Amino acid sequence: MTGTRIVAETSLPGLRLARRGKVRDVYEVDEGHLLIVATDRISAFDCVLPTQIERKGEVLTALSRFWFGRLAHIVPNHLGTTEVERMPEAVRASADILRGRSMLVRRTEVFPVECVVRGYLAGSGWKDYLATGEVCGHRLPEGLRESAKLPEPIFTPATKAEEGHDENISEARMSDILGGETTARLSHISLALYHEAEAYARGRGIIIADTKFEFGLDPEGQILLIDEALTPDSSRFWPAEAYEPGHSQPSFDKQFVRDYLETLDWDKRPPAPPLPPEVAAATTDRYLEAYRLLTGKEL
Ligand SMILES: Nc1ncnc2c1ncn2[C@@H]1O[C@H](COP(=O)(O)OP(=O)(O)OP(=O)(O)O)[C@@H](O)[C@H]1O
Ligand SMILES: [Mg+2]
Repeated sequence: MTGTRIVAETSLPGLRLARRGKVRDVYEVDEGHLLIVATDRISAFDCVLPTQIERKGEVLTALSRFWFGRLAHIVPNHLGTTEVERMPEAVRASADILRGRSMLVRRTEVFPVECVVRGYLAGSGWKDYLATGEVCGHRLPEGLRESAKLPEPIFTPATKAEEGHDENISEARMSDILGGETTARLSHISLALYHEAEAYARGRGIIIADTKFEFGLDPEGQILLIDEALTPDSSRFWPAEAYEPGHSQPSFDKQFVRDYLETLDWDKRPPAPPLPPEVAAATTDRYLEAYRLLTGKEL
């Protein structure tokens, strides 16, 4: 049975916590493996909220697994298993907490660049375009409106910032960091992944406006797709039927959360306010609906 119990934060006996992100807790399992635990935490306006979203961690995990399977013909990935029963003993000891929300993955040397692909003009891409007419060195046609579909998807890398916002960089700058050959390969792979995922999702009622991939090198020097893949947390999902350029689009998953927070007199700085139960419940439904639409299955 997968849990309906909310997990806000984990602390697993016998495993070393490597990192606690806004949403995921990452543990070192052994030299070659990490355990990525998706909690039910949610962030909005870059702040983690004090209210959790029931089943969100399950949806993130199941969606990543779905995409890893679907896209493995483009690039191999780090996923070992999401089945706790098949994980090492130290992990199985916490099976009740971890079931449905954890991935045992191959540990890699992470490339320190986020590989973002944008098919639509939103977020920092829209801001950069307004200011300069360009996004990460891509000169775009004049007169594009907010949320416009781009003539073709573009690769818009960013450096990973420990604190605060990532910085958009050009492909030339990425080449200075990773070398031209690796940059060209990551760009090519990222565009191919987006191309396939976007077309698939659009046919199922979801626009993937943009998404962020991470890659790493395994001990054999092979490039692997790592982290989470094509989830609502790493991507902008828009409901396709409501799509209309000229303004910002409702977020498929966080629409109710953002709408509610906008009604408050909150300055968008921590601590964030709690969500009413009905807003949290409606958000759970949106995550489950995203899963259902994309996979054609109930979670
Ligand atoms: N296979 C892997 N090998 C090594 N590191 C990995 C692998 N997969 C993912 N990671 C790293 O695990 C970390 C995941 O934690 P992260 O802090 O991004 O969590 P998060 O919940 O997404 O939080 P945030 O919202 O702050 O990004 C990232 O630093 C990512 O690069
Ligand atoms: Mg992250």
